[in-house]
Amino acid sequence: MAYDYSELVPYLLHWYGRNARILPWREQPKPYYVWVSEIMLQQTRVEAVKGYFDRFLAELPDIRALALAEEEKLLKLWEGLGYYNRVRNMQKAAKQVVEEFGGELPADYEKLKTLPGIGSYTAGAIASIAFGLREPTVDGNVLRVLKRVAASRDDITKEKVKHELEDDVRKILPKERPGDLNQSLMELGATVCLPNGKPLCEQCPVMHLCKAFHEGCEMEIPVKPPKKERRIEERTVFVIRFQDSIALHRRAPKGLLAGLWEFPNVKGHLTPEEVKLLFPGQQMELLPDAKHIFSHVEWRMHAYKIALANTLSSEKDRNNLENFLPSERLVDNGENSLTFFTVEQISKEISVPSAFEAYRKYMEA
Ligand code: ADE
Repeated sequence: MAYDYSELVPYLLHWYGRNARILPWREQPKPYYVWVSEIMLQQTRVEAVKGYFDRFLAELPDIRALALAEEEKLLKLWEGLGYYNRVRNMQKAAKQVVEEFGGELPADYEKLKTLPGIGSYTAGAIASIAFGLREPTVDGNVLRVLKRVAASRDDITKEKVKHELEDDVRKILPKERPGDLNQSLMELGATVCLPNGKPLCEQCPVMHLCKAFHEGCEMEIPVKPPKKERRIEERTVFVIRFQDSIALHRRAPKGLLAGLWEFPNVKGHLTPEEVKLLFPGQQMELLPDAKHIFSHVEWRMHAYKIALANTLSSEKDRNNLENFLPSERLVDNGENSLTFFTVEQISKEISVPSAFEAYRKYMEA
């Protein structure tokens, strides 16, 4: 059901004028900057994005540079942000922009949406913030703010509900500052109309227009169906060192952490006795347990550090996983061999996903 939000507009713009955070991509809202920042902001909070944003632009200052970058470099710039396909899609989109649009993002909402990884939200952000077009940016923050204002118990995970709200927002976007209005809604959601726990209604510029506030039901909105429980997976991770190098394994090209380098790991929790059988005669150290939460899976990890003896001199012997780790337990990458990298190479060039963060420090001798 459509809802008329037009009364909010002057209050939101006034509030945003005084409360907008100063952010690097706001000072100079070039289309490329808005695009990069919005994709990063889908992964993490504003504070965390700043450093990633500056580093990304220092290395890849424009769309052509992004289109030409080595994949390994891209992944390194994204290390820790998660959902690595987002940056791979950005590169696909950059190539398309170079081929189809002469290297500049088009000032057109529908054309933006034809680019890989650019959906209605990101297209709306680029269109409104960089090009001043009247297109909406409805993300989780905006859904929460506006569903509370309307005291609407629609299920916000439904695409239809989001599309209706996009239409409602498009109607109220001003000709002058459409990007500011969009950002005021996102900013209000991020800093005042908070998701978990009590929102800061007394700081809200539109409290007097908020039905949920008047009815006292702001904590019950937005409505979402309960999340499916995460699948729990047990894994045993190996930090395998040979001289000054560490063994990494490339994951399969599809699925979780597709194509990324990881510490070799196997399904299940292996006991020290079982690990000794896999690496006979090699030095073994039990490392602390760790866990990592993905959106649909949780890894519970046991881990061991293995120092391969210098006498294991044949590179073929070392690299052949079959010698150590039963391949049926590993993620199948089509080849399953290990590659040894120096610790310095790993820290400068290779992106190791955050799931393994707890074990990075054990790479040192
Ligand atoms: N969250 C995501 N994008 C944002 C933006 N442009 N302003 C405020 N919060 C945001």
